[in-house]
Parts: sequence; C-alpha cells; structure tokens
Amino acid sequence: MTKRRTAEPYKIKAVEPLNILSHEERKQALEKAGYNTFLLDSQDVYIDLLTDSGTSAMSDQQWGSLMVGDEAYAGSKSWYRLQEAVREVYGYKYVLPTHQGRGAENLLSQLKVKDGDYVPGNMYFTTTRAHQELNGGTFVDVIIDEAHDPNAELDFKGNVDLNKLQNLIMEVGAERIPFVCLAVTVNMAGGQPVSMANMREVYELCQEHGIDVMYDATRCVENAYFIKEREPGYQNTPIKDILKEMFAYSDGCTMSGKKDALVNIGGFLAMNDEELYTRSRELVVVYEGMPTYGGMAGRDMEAMAQGIYESVDDHYIEHRIQQVRYLGDQLIEAGIPMVRPIGGHAIFLDARAFLDHLDQDQFPAQALAAALYLDSGVRAMERGIVSAGRNKETGEHNKPKLEMVRLTIPRRVYTNNHMDVVADSVIELYQKRHQIKGLQMDYEPPTLRFFNARFSPKEVALLEN
Ligand code: F0G
Repeated sequence: MTKRRTAEPYKIKAVEPLNILSHEERKQALEKAGYNTFLLDSQDVYIDLLTDSGTSAMSDQQWGSLMVGDEAYAGSKSWYRLQEAVREVYGYKYVLPTHQGRGAENLLSQLKVKDGDYVPGNMYFTTTRAHQELNGGTFVDVIIDEAHDPNAELDFKGNVDLNKLQNLIMEVGAERIPFVCLAVTVNMAGGQPVSMANMREVYELCQEHGIDVMYDATRCVENAYFIKEREPGYQNTPIKDILKEMFAYSDGCTMSGKKDALVNIGGFLAMNDEELYTRSRELVVVYEGMPTYGGMAGRDMEAMAQGIYESVDDHYIEHRIQQVRYLGDQLIEAGIPMVRPIGGHAIFLDARAFLDHLDQDQFPAQALAAALYLDSGVRAMERGIVSAGRNKETGEHNKPKLEMVRLTIPRRVYTNNHMDVVADSVIELYQKRHQIKGLQMDYEPPTLRFFNARFSPKEVALLEN
C-alpha cells in the first residue's frame, strides 16, 4: 500500500474571501507598484507568500483569549500567563516582553555589544545584524560553507562550522565576543536547521571560553521538527522535549512571536543570567514599556501564551513542515531550480538558474517575483541583489551568491490546494522562462532599498504572451 495521506490538523471556522483579479487588472496593479511586490496592495493579491511573519491564522482558543486579556498597565495577568508559557516551553528563568523580535534584538545588542566587538552567527539576518552594527559590533558569518550553495543537500545546513568559530576566538580573543548568535532555523539559508549535536558543541566550545550563546529562536519549533525527523535518537521524542533540550544549550534567546509562536505581533527576550535580566528590565522601559507588557497589549500577550502551547503540538508542526514540502516536492519534480533540501518556512527559488538568460544586474529575482504575480496573483519576495544593497565604499551593487525568490508559507492559513495553484504557476513560468525580461531600477532609496524601489521592464513587456 502506498503511504497514507494526512490532512490539515484543523478545520475552518471563519473564512476570509480572496480577491482574484484578471490578468489585465494584475498588470495594472504591478505597474502601479513599480514591479515591486512589497508595493502591491494586499487586496490585489490572491495568495500572499510575501512572509510568514505575523501572517499566521490564530486558533479559536487564541481568538477567545483576546477577550480575557488583562489590559492593566502594570502586573497584568496576561503577562504572568505569557511568562509561564515561555518558562514552561522554552525553559529560561527570566523573560521580558517586546513588541516584536527586533525589539528584543535591540535590547540584547545594546546591553552586550560594544565598539570593536565581533558577533559570530550562522548567517546574518537583516534586523539582527543591524542592531549588532548599530552598537559598534561586526557580524562574522560562521555557518558551514555548504549553506551558501543552493544545491548542497545536507540534513543540517544551518550548522555552525566549529573551526570558523574557534579561529575567530583565537584571532580576536573571547573578550571581544559578547555572545554567539545562533539562529534556529536559518532564514536566509532557506529555513535550514541546526542539529542538536551542533548546538551542544557550540555551547561547549563557548563555555570553555566564557562566551554566551544566544539563540534567535524565531523558528525554533520548525528546527525541533527537523531534529525529530533527521537526527538519530529523536524519532520518538515529543517536540516539546526536543525544544527543551535545544534551549538547554544556550544562555538566552531573542524571539519574534510573529513566526513560531503563532501570533500577529509580539516577541520576547529571555535569559538565565540574573544580572543581564536586571539590566534588561532597566532598558526595556525606555524602548518597549513596563517589564510586564513590553509594547504588547494584554490581549496580545494572552494570545501569544496560547500560541506557544499550540506551536509544540506534534501534529501541528508535522503538518506545517509537510505543507512547505508538499509545494517544494512538486517543484523539484518539475526540475525547478531551488534551494535544497526544502527548509522549514519557505521555498527559495534559485532565480539565477531559473532566468539564466538574465545578468544579475537585470534583477532576475525581482523580475521572477513580478512575473509570478502577473501570472497568478501569487506574491513572493525578492532576496537577491536588490535586498543586498550597494557596497558602501565602491557604490557598486553587492552581488550575493544567492539570488532568490522566497515563497514563504504562512502558518495554518492556506490549504494544499493553494499550494497546487502556486506550483502550477511556477512550473508554467519555468516552461516559458525565456519570455521573462529583465528589469531596470527607476527609483532607488538610499537604505533598505528593496522595500520601496521601483522598476520597469527593460523591454516592452515583462512577460511576452
Ligand atoms: N530573526 C529572524 C530569523 C527573522 O526572520 C526575523 C523576521 C526577525 C529576527 C525579526 O523579527 O520581524 O518580529 O522584528 N523576519 C521576517 C521575514 C520579517 O519576513 O523573514 P521581527
């Protein structure tokens, strides 16, 4: 008998109707948006795969919990519920709420990073690195080399290269390294996981040198699932227990609740060190709010507490990862170039290989994302030369090795039928890829240009019919 199929481990109680525009309407919307998917209006989008951040569907329990949110300025009951959830599931002693992940990154970097410091990490994330740099630090990528190769098939492509970390410690000295920032999973590498063994080794090495290990726990539950699936000895371990062990190899974490904690807004900073906690309490009031709300409404804290418990349900997380894979497998089958293996939250199309008739300075990933919208109303995100910006010294475009279009799957929002629509569109575009033209940039903002830049086709049309 073939493998028995499974379905979404939830049923639908409220629906949000989707707008489906005609090809002509989409063409107009795309022109209005300057061929930049960030500038499209959500009402013009059919299936929105721009990000998995803050786009999760909440459960009926979470919606119910909004009603019991305690909006007291200080000492809210909802805060205690959130604190309890983080302590129970993540295992850290101290927790501070923040409005989202970057709020926690700001506090951590201000408290620990000094001028001339180095912060090693397994590939950068935009906001995380920005806070390290704003405080005078230099980010150092210590991820394994294979993470930069879309075709390298490894179970744990997010792992730290211990030699790189060891060499950095030798080179600059442990006292210049305030902490190692370990992302589980690694967003920019394609949602790739870190193995438990690697976490343990990183932690042991850092302990020897008195360096803290701080996780970027944004997609930690997805990472735990890959460990259960791929690392010997964990096949029968509940996700909750795997997570607990993961966090035992760290001193604290920053968290964007907008991803794995299944809420639309919120985050936290957590740690075991009392002294760091005391200093964080002093700083959180400057940037976020009282230590018992930290930029969140009581109802948001209530919903996040509930989301944290739901996120470690084994059926939920299995379906989550399998849905991303359901889309990815169809694309692999059709020979679409993409980052492999398929990661936890997204499919990353390899736009350079997809549109190999375009030079990188014709913005292949931007053009592909625009063509995908035009073809089917599916919104994706450019992660390539536009996102990488310009070199500060030379003024030239940074030309990243990975030129990608990210199809990011929101949690519990779409069914596998939606994934089929996406797959059909990508596959058809691949068949007529040579008709997709390059773009030129007509307006370029000086910072974080990908958000607001405007483009137009180099030739008459983006996609010839
Ligand atoms: N760390 C990682 C790995 C992230 O992916 C993000 C956000 C953050 C930190 C910051 O969290 O948005 O709550 O302040 N990633 C979103 C994305 C924006 O689309 O990948 P935040």
